[in-house]
Amino acid sequence: LVLREANRQAGQKRLPDLLTDSDPRVRFVAIQWIGEERLGEVWSQVKDELEQRLSTRQELEAYLATSAFLSKSYNPGQEARGEEFVAEMLLDKNTSPERRAFLLRMLPPESKSVAENQLQQWLASDSPALRLAVLGRVADGGLPKFLAESNTLSDTAMNAKLPLDERLEAIAAMSHDPTKHAATLKQLLDDKNPLIATQAGRTVRTNDQLAAANSIAFSGEGRTPLNDVATWRQILEKQPGDAKSGELIFRHAVAQCSRCHEAEGRGAAIGPNLTGIGRTMSRERLIESILQPSKEIAPQFAVWQIETTDGRILKGMYFGEEVDGTVIYANEQGKTFKVHPRDVESRTQQKQSIMPEGLPYRLTDQELRDLLAYLSEGRQK
Ligand code: HEC
Repeated sequence: LVLREANRQAGQKRLPDLLTDSDPRVRFVAIQWIGEERLGEVWSQVKDELEQRLSTRQELEAYLATSAFLSKSYNPGQEARGEEFVAEMLLDKNTSPERRAFLLRMLPPESKSVAENQLQQWLASDSPALRLAVLGRVADGGLPKFLAESNTLSDTAMNAKLPLDERLEAIAAMSHDPTKHAATLKQLLDDKNPLIATQAGRTVRTNDQLAAANSIAFSGEGRTPLNDVATWRQILEKQPGDAKSGELIFRHAVAQCSRCHEAEGRGAAIGPNLTGIGRTMSRERLIESILQPSKEIAPQFAVWQIETTDGRILKGMYFGEEVDGTVIYANEQGKTFKVHPRDVESRTQQKQSIMPEGLPYRLTDQELRDLLAYLSEGRQK
């Protein structure tokens, strides 16, 4: 990385090496460099090989930005292009299943670029990585028809011959319709693998009736108040957490974190990206941000209450704007909605965050420890 600053000439000669370096961070800087210096010739030489190596979201984004920037039809307003590009690579016949799995994870869950029958085909493939990516997409997004109407999720969850990750993801995806899978979940609650049993418990807890029926109903009653950070700290420090479980919790519908936050390339970009947050935020602040989301809110996350001219009351965080002035807001469910300024009667700023209060009460103390372990890890993949 120093090369770039130290010696531009010599460094440029080494670009092809840097672009194929085994460290994604080195490749990332090299890609950016090409874009900034408009080294179109170098780009056309290395582009294809590089495409095969992309392995992090950061690198993929730099790749897409540089491609778009150096292409003749560059148009700064064309932001959707990145997604199109990913979809193109994804659907390319020559793309390997492993590559496809990576690209599928990079595509936002709400993207319509991949047809359901395509997902169905990939889920039936013999590549564990690709099947896992499809299940992850289903867990984060919505249930495609072919899964809503079949027993595939149950069958996957129960199949002890499949990789553990795949079964865990299928159990998470059952949160879209826990009642349908009630019998399977009941059985999985007693699974001898604790990761499977606790994951099934989380899915059961997304439905109050089901939780009560299985005697694992959950409430915040009798737990420490959320503003007593000192006591919470003691509780959470009592035992170590497990980062692998924490990752499962972060992405599970019971905790909802990934509906708004991205970590390690997965999740939505509504709240701040939490990848490596453990390196920049103290443990105390981290705990406090989860216990009391509204205590400190940076201005860009301000929440507005909007009264529309037809009398509806909406609440959301400013998320962006369309060309015609329509404003996009995000709500407490991590979903976006749109309002045109001409339909707004009044707008008042709120003191609360859209990050819901009381999320810790949806989790056990141990789950919170695991979640913290995951967020504190600060690893970079
Ligand atoms: C509905 C969206 C939403 C959900 C769900 C949500 N968050 Fe947040 N989160 C936000 C927003 C917006 C902010 C920034 C404003 C604020 O601090 O409240 C934030 C802030 C944070 C911060 C502070 C980050 C920083 O850089 O200051 C942490 C840590 C955090 N959230 C963790 C979590 C965890 C863990 C979960 C799951 C248990 C979660 N969030 C669920 C929207 C959400």
